[in-house]
Order: sequence, then structure tokens, then C-alpha cells
Amino acid sequence: MTKSFLGIIGGSGLYDLPGLENKREVKVPSPWGEPSSDVHLGEISGLSVAFLPRHGEGHVQSPSSINYRANIDVMKRVGVTDLISVSACGSFKEELPPGHFVLVDQFIDRTFAREKSFFGEGCVAHVPMADPVSPRLADQIEAAAKAEGIAHTRGGTYLVMEGPQFSTRAESYMYKAWGCSVIGMTNMPEAKLAREAELCYATIAMVTDFDCWHEEHEDVDMTAIIRIMKGNSEKASRLVARIAADFPREHEPCPIGSDRALEHAIVTSRDA
Ligand code: ADE
Repeated sequence: MTKSFLGIIGGSGLYDLPGLENKREVKVPSPWGEPSSDVHLGEISGLSVAFLPRHGEGHVQSPSSINYRANIDVMKRVGVTDLISVSACGSFKEELPPGHFVLVDQFIDRTFAREKSFFGEGCVAHVPMADPVSPRLADQIEAAAKAEGIAHTRGGTYLVMEGPQFSTRAESYMYKAWGCSVIGMTNMPEAKLAREAELCYATIAMVTDFDCWHEEHEDVDMTAIIRIMKGNSEKASRLVARIAADFPREHEPCPIGSDRALEHAIVTSRDA
């Protein structure tokens, strides 16, 4: 039996985990380059937890400059089995207002300037991505959000844009018309790389704004985001503490096979 090990990648507003006990910050070398920061290792309610601030200490990495491969690699190397991404996002739906948490289950990847795979020349693999989120992990987040009384919605599509500029109004209308729920700049290629690393992955998307489609709300800017972010971060820390406290101590096989994604994915012959 494999022991559960929870990984948390914190986005804008979540630069550490207040509930992490016996915290030590560890430099984990990776052949993929420099991760965003040292990994914060510790325990919450006795569960092993690794935390990584996605944008680095002091928020120095832009969405396009983050080394997503190194971030996922160091989480895998320290032993993470289940990875939860916590990310600020804009909303395309009236019923998902600022302060609301969305447990997204789909992504549309519109990024174009990032390394997106651990596989390439020499070893080629094609992992399935039809369901990028592990439903068991989403169940656990949903149960914790209910227990903590945090307003949330299960399911939704997260549009990942390159940034760093926010969307034009035409883009915002288009993504809304596509049926997207939220928009952010970081969950891809993170989710793809987590799948290649055979990690169970789920996202807590914390709404900060209505992007720029809403007639009765200001267009998104950083002032508005920062105003909402503080409350979101407090809720996210509470939510993660509850998820960890209730987390199964033995890793259960992922119902959609995220933790065995490479079994039938590698096409390169062993003799090549
Ligand atoms: N992060 C938070 N709000 C956002 C928005 N409206 N667009 C892209 N990323 C965001």
C-alpha cells in the first residue's frame, strides 16, 4: 500500500500554508531546471504535505516564465500522490461571483509559450486527457468545502490563457459564449504534466473578478483582484487544512487511472 502524500501548489495570494506543522523548506534538484521555490514540507493533522508557491517567494514568476515541468517534477520526487492546485481566476458566470470557489473539471488550453510535456525526442508518450481532474480528489475537496461552509460549485471549464495581460473584451465575450466558467493563466500545462507524472490532480479555482464581460461590474484589474484575494486565501488555507485532516491515509487507486497514466501511453520501443 502507498501512503497518501498531499501536494498543494498555491497561486496568487497563497504563498504559504499557515497550518503546516514541522515545516522545513527543502531545495529539490530537478533535471528540468529550477522550480518556482524550495518545497515546503511538513504535516497537517499527521498527513504528509508538500507546498509550492507557484509564482515563487515574493511573486517573481509570471505565468509564462513558471517552470511547470520542474514544479511537477519536484512534487513527484518528494513523494506526492495527490496534487491540488489553488488558483485565482476570473468568472464568466453570474452565479460564480468573486469569493466563490469552483472545483473545475475541464480545461481549455489556449497557452502557446510554455513547455508542455516531459516527453519528446527519444521517448514519446501520449497520455489521455479527456478527464483531467481526478473525481475522487474533487469529492474530497467538495466534502471539505461543505464542512467548512465555503460557497463552491462542483464542475466547470477553466480557460487557460497565456497572459500576462488580461483578455480583450472580444476574447472575454467569446470564452463566455464557449460556455467557459472561469479564466486563469496557470493551470495548463500544470494539469497535463501532472497526468504525465501519474499524479491525481484537481483544481480549486477561487473567483476574484468578472473579467471584462459584465456590464454592472468593473473590468478586471489587479486592484480588484488583490481586494478579493485576502478573503479567498483565508478560506483556501482553512479548506486545505480540512482536506488534509479528512484525507485517506492510504492512497486509493484513482478511478480514472491518473496514477497509472503511462501504462499504455509510451509508444517508443524499448530498443530504440
Ligand atoms: N486571474 C484572476 N482573474 C483573472 C482574469 N480575469 N483573467 C485571467 N486570469 C485571472
